[in-house]
Amino acid sequence: MTALALRSGEPATARVPLLAVALPQNRALPRALGPLDRATGGVLTRALRSGDFRGNRDETFVLYGGDQGPERVMLVGVGAQMTPAAVARAATLAGRRAHALGVGRAAFWYDLAGDTALEHALVGGPLGAWEYRDLRTPPAPSESKRPLASWTVFVPKLDGAARGALRAAQAVAEGQRLARTLAMMPGNLCTPEFIAQTAREIAERHKLACTVRGRKEMEALGMRSFLAVAQGTPQDPRFVVLEYRGGKPDDPPLALVGKGICFDTGGISLKPADRMEWMKFDMCGAAGVLGAMEAIARMHLPINVVGAVGATTNMPSGTAVKPGDVVKAYNGKTIEIANTDAEGRLVLADVLSFVARHYKPQAMVDAATLTGAIVVALGNIATGVLGTDQGVVNDVLAASTRANEPGWQLPAWPEYREQLKSDVADIRNIGNKGAGAITATVFMAEFTEGVPWAHLDIAGTAYSETDLVALGRGPTGVPVRTFVEFVRERAR
Ligand code: BES
Ligand code: MN
Ligand code: ZN
Repeated sequence: MTALALRSGEPATARVPLLAVALPQNRALPRALGPLDRATGGVLTRALRSGDFRGNRDETFVLYGGDQGPERVMLVGVGAQMTPAAVARAATLAGRRAHALGVGRAAFWYDLAGDTALEHALVGGPLGAWEYRDLRTPPAPSESKRPLASWTVFVPKLDGAARGALRAAQAVAEGQRLARTLAMMPGNLCTPEFIAQTAREIAERHKLACTVRGRKEMEALGMRSFLAVAQGTPQDPRFVVLEYRGGKPDDPPLALVGKGICFDTGGISLKPADRMEWMKFDMCGAAGVLGAMEAIARMHLPINVVGAVGATTNMPSGTAVKPGDVVKAYNGKTIEIANTDAEGRLVLADVLSFVARHYKPQAMVDAATLTGAIVVALGNIATGVLGTDQGVVNDVLAASTRANEPGWQLPAWPEYREQLKSDVADIRNIGNKGAGAITATVFMAEFTEGVPWAHLDIAGTAYSETDLVALGRGPTGVPVRTFVEFVRERAR
């Protein structure tokens, strides 16, 4: 875990192994960096004048310092403008490079622009430096690069606002770390029970209520849509609810809901073998909820929040649900399961309707690696945002922007409901042509019981199969920070 810190004063005299300096495109050296430039024999101005470093987005350039001050200075390009998103990206890339160099400790300096950018600068270090090492044999000490143990951001003044940003960033970074670790763990380790155990530990740490239900308890409740997905696996499914009570006892809570498919084979509607191993990430919605609950509890936000996850594995077997089977969901609607690979919506149908009825939340937001269709539409840059309530959708979109986890809305109009008509049941779990991310949403809307609701399809954004420059392959931390920002705004 990378420890976060703030520091004010002169970067030229800071003896750190690496100082990352974020600079915008084609600009002269900021006056504030004059002393650092002189302390390093003018290498900064020469790097800029020569054109060796131009400040383009994602450009990095490492220089070596002198006997005093930083041992290394890494120039990091932010591109045309020092927007919060550009600062976030530069800090993340700097964290990644610092980790790869194995310098152990690093600091970050930038021309402070806007108050939220400080949180981005802080969160960026650990975000970029994160690496999952738990399952590797540790290298010999002589060959091992030091993980990034600390990340210090320079601020003009160590005031209350800066300290508040530090506390919030620590909470978010810890939430992201937790979510990414769960996500990266293989399916044989991150089981439904492991997810439940992680939730119990969060509850214990922060004095939250935690309820864990298994197959038996869900049968008693009539959650047969969820249970249909869990029918093919011997592992007991887990329906986990965390309750954070930071608000007044009678205030209706916000509900965060996550898809926790610990591995998605597709079931009897089996997926192709090629790249199926990526389906261990099909629990990123659940990981996002747990990470967000950890962060929210650390931040002591004055609001009530329910975090609910449906965790199981989607397996083919002699007992597995078959295409065409019909089940009755918790809210009484019958579902024709035309495709067993459209399992996330079946789990969420029961979790959403249970949470809606049981907790009567003021709003619900779910996150799910729900459809390949959203990856076709938005790739791994934007999360799909859809919902039944434009107010909640707007708040989620605004939260995702503040979080630097961009979202983009797609319609969830009732016209798309046509595709879900079944010959035998109230609804069918797949559409028939096009708009796959939308028909999945319109399906789930039937189980939201009138609660204002938005859905995040994070299939393209929660993890990446390719290197993203600022982040490597693997889990990104999405949607932890979007959840946190959404709750934070409603707590104001
Ligand atoms: N977990 C998948 C969606 C997914 C696909 C996530 C690619 C990440 C990357 C989901 O359960 C699924 O299989 N969806 C199907 C739905 C289809 C059968 C209607 C899909 O998108 O192909
Ligand atoms: Mn599936
Ligand atoms: Zn799935």
